[in-house]
This record gives sequence, C-alpha cells and structure tokens, in this order.
Amino acid sequence: MEAGVERAEQKRQVLFLCVFLLGVSWAGAEPLRYFVAEETERGTFLTNFANDLGLGVEELSARGPRIVSDQSIRFLLLNPLTGDIILNEKLDREELCGPTDPCVLPFQLLMEKPFKIYRAELWVRDINDHSPVFLDGEIPLKILESTTPGEVFLLERAQDSDVGVNSLRNYTISPNAYFHINVHESGEGTIYPELVLDKTLDREEVPELNLTLTALDGGSPPRSGTALVRILVLDINDNAPKFVQSLYKVQVPENNPVGSLIVAVSANDLDTGSNGEIAYAFFYATERILKTFQINSTSGDLHLRIQLDYEAIQTYTLTIQAKDGGGLSGKCTVAVQVTDINDNPPELLLSSFTNPVAENAPETVAAIFRIRDRDSGNNGKMICFLQEDLPFILKPSVENFYTLVTGKPLDREWNAEYNVTIVVTDLGSPRLKTEHTIRVQVSDVNDNAPTFAQTSYTLLIRENNNPAVHMGTVSATDRDSGTNAQVTYSLLPSHDQHLEALVRVVVVDDNDNSPFVLYPLQNISTPCTELVPREAEAGYLVTKVVAVDSDSGQNAWLSYQLLKATEPGLFSVWAHNGEVRTARLLSVRDVAKHRLVVLVKDNGEPPMSSTITLHVVLVDGFSQPYLPLPEVAPNETQSDSLTVYLFIALTSVSSLFLASILLFITVHLCRRNKSVPVSRCSVPEGHFSDHLVDFSGTGTLSQSYQYKVCLTEGSRASEFKFLKPIIPSLPPKSTERELKENLSFQNNLDF
Ligand SMILES: *[C@@H]1O[C@H](CO)[C@@H](O)[C@H](O)[C@H]1NC(C)=O
Ligand SMILES: *[C@@H]1O[C@H](CO)[C@@H](O)[C@H](O)[C@H]1NC(C)=O
Ligand SMILES: *[C@@H]1O[C@H](CO)[C@@H](O)[C@H](O)[C@H]1NC(C)=O
Ligand SMILES: *[C@@H]1O[C@H](CO)[C@@H](O)[C@H](O)[C@H]1NC(C)=O
Ligand SMILES: *[C@@H]1O[C@H](CO)[C@@H](O)[C@H](O)[C@H]1NC(C)=O
Ligand SMILES: *[C@@H]1O[C@H](CO)[C@@H](O)[C@H](O)[C@H]1NC(C)=O
Repeated sequence: MEAGVERAEQKRQVLFLCVFLLGVSWAGAEPLRYFVAEETERGTFLTNFANDLGLGVEELSARGPRIVSDQSIRFLLLNPLTGDIILNEKLDREELCGPTDPCVLPFQLLMEKPFKIYRAELWVRDINDHSPVFLDGEIPLKILESTTPGEVFLLERAQDSDVGVNSLRNYTISPNAYFHINVHESGEGTIYPELVLDKTLDREEVPELNLTLTALDGGSPPRSGTALVRILVLDINDNAPKFVQSLYKVQVPENNPVGSLIVAVSANDLDTGSNGEIAYAFFYATERILKTFQINSTSGDLHLRIQLDYEAIQTYTLTIQAKDGGGLSGKCTVAVQVTDINDNPPELLLSSFTNPVAENAPETVAAIFRIRDRDSGNNGKMICFLQEDLPFILKPSVENFYTLVTGKPLDREWNAEYNVTIVVTDLGSPRLKTEHTIRVQVSDVNDNAPTFAQTSYTLLIRENNNPAVHMGTVSATDRDSGTNAQVTYSLLPSHDQHLEALVRVVVVDDNDNSPFVLYPLQNISTPCTELVPREAEAGYLVTKVVAVDSDSGQNAWLSYQLLKATEPGLFSVWAHNGEVRTARLLSVRDVAKHRLVVLVKDNGEPPMSSTITLHVVLVDGFSQPYLPLPEVAPNETQSDSLTVYLFIALTSVSSLFLASILLFITVHLCRRNKSVPVSRCSVPEGHFSDHLVDFSGTGTLSQSYQYKVCLTEGSRASEFKFLKPIIPSLPPKSTERELKENLSFQNNLDF
C-alpha cells in the first residue's frame, strides 16, 4: 500500500521536472544535466536513469548501477531495479553554493558489468527564500540641525542570501518631510542606500526622527527587510531666550517689606543644554534700580532690596535680560508702579509768625503756614482745624496756605498767651494727624488805668511821731504789663477828678496831755475863792471844776475826785462832772475857810492828772454880791495886770466865738459837698494845721458846751477873767515837773 502512494507521488514529480530534463545529453560526451529547485522536498522523483540511457529496466539492474559523488552527503538515491532517481535530501542552494551562481552539483553513474561511467550534473536552482537583512535593526544617526539640505548620509546596507533576481534590488525609506533615499551600486553588483537631506532640520520642532529603511529584493513577490533609522537632531544655539511676557506690569505698595518678591520673570529657550540655560540679569540698569531691586539670576525672581517710598519715586522701569549659555539673549520690561500707602503724616510748615500779637487790634494775622502731605490721593488730602475753642480762626488760602487770624480783639489782661493747637489730618485710612502748637503771646497796650487795691486807705499814726516815720503803704496795680504797668504815686488834692484812692490818716491819740483845768484858773496870783452861804442846803453847788484834755478818747475822759480837804466830808466832788457840792448842812462850827484840792485825772494809760486848789469861804447872809478880797491885797501893779487880763480874756472869747462860727460854717459847707466826706476837709494837701482839734464827737467837751459853761455859769463879772483861754494853746506835754510846779503854786496859795 505504501508503495502505491509513493508511486503516485513520483508520477507528479516527474511531471513537474520534465521541463528540466529536456537538456539532458547522452552519457559520454556531455554530462547528463538534471535541474532541481532548491528546497524541493525529499523523495521527489528526479528522473528514470534507464530511460535516459536507453536501456531496459532488466538490463540496467543486471549491470549493477551506482551513483557516486564528491559530496559527502548523498543527495540522490538510485533505485537499481527501476532506474528511478529521487531526491534524498532537501537542498539549500545558499548552503551548497553560497553566492556562486549557478549552483552545479556534479555526480557519476557507475556500471559494474561491464564497467562504465556516466557523468551527470544536478543544477540547483535559486528560489527567493531569503529576505534582505540589515545587520543592525537600528541605525543611529546624529545630524546637526544646522545641516544644509543636500547633505548625504551613508546608511548601512542590507544583505540578501539569494542570488540573481532574488538578490537585493532597492531601498526605500518611510515617507517623511526631510529625507529621501538614493540607491547606489558598488562593484560586484551590491547596492547601498544614501540618505539625502531635503529640508533643514529644526531640533526645536523635530528633535528626533524615526525612519524605516526598507530593503527590497527582486524576487516575485519581492521580499523585504527593514531597519530603523533613528535620527537625532543635534541642537545648535539657534534660539534666543524668549520671555513669557515682554512687559510685566506690577503694582507694589510702598510698604512692602524688604526682600519681598516683586515679580518672577520667566524666559524660555528652545535650545537644549547650555544653549537653553538661562541666566537673568538687569540690562543696563541704573544705580537706582541696582540699589532697589535684586534679581535671582537662576529663577528670575525680582526681590526688593530696600524699602520703597512712593513719595520719592513712583515708578521704576527695569529691563531684564535673559541670556543662554550660547550667548543669545532676550529682554523684557518690568514696569513697577509703587502704590501709595498712608505712611506720611501731614506736615505743617510755619511760613511766618507774628509774635506777639497786639491786644485790642482787629483781625490780625498771627501766623501764616502751609500744610502738606507727601502721600497722594485721599492719603494726601488734608483737613485743618483748631483743637480748642480759641478766639482764633483759620483762613484757608491758595496752595494749602492758611492764615491764623484773631477772631476778635484780644485782651492781654484776660489772657496773655494762647497755645493755639492746629490739627492737620489726612483722609487716608487710617487717618494720620499732626498737631502743631503755636504759642501766641498778646502784647500789651496801655488800656488799663492803675487801680488801688482798696478804694480808700486808713493809715494810723501815733501822734508825737518822728519825722519820716513809716505810716503804711498804699499800693496800686496796673493790669497792663511792662512800662504800661509801671505805677507812680502822687498826692493830689482831694477834689481831683483823677483820684483814685483816698488816704485817710488817722492820728492816734497818745496820752500826752494832762487835763487842763479851765476853771478855776490856776496860775493867777490871786487864787480862786468860792463863797458859800452857811445856810446852804446839803448838795449846794459850790462850784464846778472845768477841765479839758487835749487828748481824745479815753485819754480825754476825765474824772474828778477830792484829793484833800480842810474838813473831810463837808464837800464832795462829783466824779464825772467836777461839780463841787456841799455834802451836808453847814454849821456854825464849821470853819470859814476851806481849802480843797481836786484831782482831775484822765483815763489814759498811764493816766495823767492835774490838781486844783479851791478856796471856799463860808459866809453868813450871802445876799449881796460879794467880792471876796484876797488876804493879801493886790498891789498896784497886780490890779493893773488884772485889767490887762480882763481885756485879753474878752478879746480871746470874742475871737474864739468868731472862729467857732466860721468853723461851723465851713463844716456845713463841706458836708454839703456830698462826694467828699466831712472828714476830708481836714486833709488838705497831706499836712495838717496844728490848730485843728478832734471834733468827730469823741472829745469830752464840745465847743458849744464850753461856751455854754462859760456864758451861763458865770455869776460874777470877775469870772470872765478866768474864761479867757477857752481853747488855750496847750502845753505840748504835761510833764511831771509841770505838775509839781502847779502843786507848788497851789501851795503858795494855801491859806
Ligand atoms: C526602487 O524603488 C523606488 C520606489 O519604490 C522606485 O521608484 C525605483 O524605480 C526602484 N528602483 C529600481 C532600480 O527598481
Ligand atoms: C524612535 O524609536 C525608538 C526605538 O524604538 C523609540 O524609543 C523612540 O521613542 C522613537 N521616537 C519617536 C519620535 O517615535
Ligand atoms: C535663586 O533661586 C533659586 C531657585 O529658586 C534658589 O535655589 C537660589 O537660592 C536663589 N538664589 C539666591 C541668591 O537667592
Ligand atoms: C503754652 O505752652 C507752654 C509750653 O508747653 C507752657 O509753658 C505754657 O504754660 C502754655 N501756656 C498756656 C496759656 O497754656
Ligand atoms: C498862766 O500860766 C501859763 C503857763 O503856765 C502862762 O502861759 C499864762 O500866761 C499864765 N496866765 C496868767 C494869767 O498869768
Ligand atoms: C506890789 O508888787 C510889787 C511887785 O510885784 C512888789 O514888789 C511890792 O512889794 C508889792 N506891794 C505890796 C504892798 O505888797
């Protein structure tokens, strides 16, 4: 059964190979040629040898045929019974012959009986069983982007084991914009590809290009092999750094801290490597910019180096350069706008200042000033006002000038100095303010008359003072100042219209006068003798001792007492009025002559006193006026002097009366003058007439009373002689010596 299948197979093969056997020549001259395609399956029938030699099958097998060859392998098998030759092995032309073409395998057919050799050849034909192959699947290529078009790059060639038409015929490259392939033939028919640049490369656009190189053989169908051409475009520094923005606008508040980031500029460079490494720097920066800003050369961060001040500089324009490693550069501009912050308080600049300001003057400019705020916008708008309610007003003028004027006339005496505080605030947020105090002094105008501390002064001075004794002080003040307040004092007549203050000097009485006995008169040679009728009742008024004291007040308050009497108890003296009265009924036993010593004493401290001696004669039948005769008859000369005394006394009384009348009239006239009190009349020109006495009513004896006494009491004409000195010129001082004299005088008159 197996043999049946084999036979069928053999028949098909023979059909296939018959074409190749046409050229087989007869053995002897030309070798027999057999053609077989490589890779033909093993066992394929090649030919029938008996037929090829023209022998019968039996004859051939009888002769013992055999195939011999030089090859180590037995690629053909001869069936000795039939004479069929079949392929013993699959043949690989490339293995058997390599590039040699044609591939001929010679062999011999050997016959033993009779011995004969036939030459034969097996021609192995190539089939396209190999594809072109590149040794390396990847062909790296580095091409500078600056390479000009037309440049040629050699590529590795591919290899194809097939020969003839099946060998490598063409190269193609995958479609691309930059390259095409040129195929060239070298010697021995090998072809190689060349890559030709058509268009300038741009690394920044296409940094890397993968192309497929295809090698094609001439087989039908053709076979191909590919390789990857990896083109790396090499950078050249053909790109300058480019800033993301050509202009950076930033607004920076002026109070941004030192070191803070202002802006980060950024530039790009399409190149690679150092060609793409960017360093940032200022481009021709001014000193001012270098001082203010700092740029990080690697990051492009712009930092603040110092504090900004809007008031000094509002804008900065910086040019920043970015430079790559290849030396190309780009620029950008940074416009820094400093924004205002209310960091400046308003200022007040005093332009002129009038000090002092005159009082009583109408609206006067005290100061001219200007206000300013270095901030802008609302931060720089200002309002200006006075802090306190003072008699000043602020008047705005142009260009932020203001004048401080007085709102009303000032009165230095009311307020000599004003601290005018001017407040200036801006309208920023928060508001800043400035206070400025102007010390306005008010100058004096002599608008105030001096005034005395009191409208009237009463100065006390003791009498008998030494000259130039300090009596007291009057003082006047003037509310003005300086020379306007220098006060001079002068004494003016009391009726002067410019009087201001009245000075009343009260002379205080000193008990320097002893009581002066007016009646009875003492120092006359004839002592006073009173006649008392013996039948007089008790309490009979014998006489009245009349005394005055030039002092006043207590010092003039007199009291009387009986100091000594011839017969004590017969007479009594009334202490207050000096009346001498009989104390009891007189009797005949009483002696006729009595001598009474009456002491008149004032109430001063120490008291001063006078004594007076009275002679009383008791008479019987006291009906006729009786002129007692003194015991010692006055001699001629005495009676002469009595007449003289009488005359003097009369004239004195008359003149005194007249003087009193005049005085009375004067007093009345003065009282009528309402504005001037009565007492002022006694103060003419600051000195006093020495004849004036106190008649303020405090004295013990008024003028009228004295007159009354003198005029009514009198019982006899002789009394007038004692009344002469009603107001006698008093001795300046009643001394003790005088008192003694008086006493001695009285003793002289003793009975
Ligand atoms: C090689 O291939 C290209 C493109 O396929 C073709 O244009 C060219 O004629 C071919 N060259 C040969 C020699 O066959
Ligand atoms: C080119 O081919 C290589 C290798 O396969 C690959 O790594 C690379 O990414 C490819 N490049 C491009 C641009 O496709
Ligand atoms: C500049 O910036 C870089 C990156 O931010 C930083 O590392 C470097 O310290 C900075 N240089 C200076 C001087 O600040
Ligand atoms: C004004 O201010 C000055 C200085 O501070 C002060 O000595 C003076 O007493 C003040 N005057 C008034 C009227 O307040
Ligand atoms: C009385 O004495 C005084 C002085 O003691 C004297 O001035 C006066 O004249 C005398 N009078 C008579 C009348 O002698
Ligand atoms: C009269 O007075 C004179 C002088 O005073 C005296 O000398 C004379 O003695 C007196 N005569 C008589 C009589 O006393």
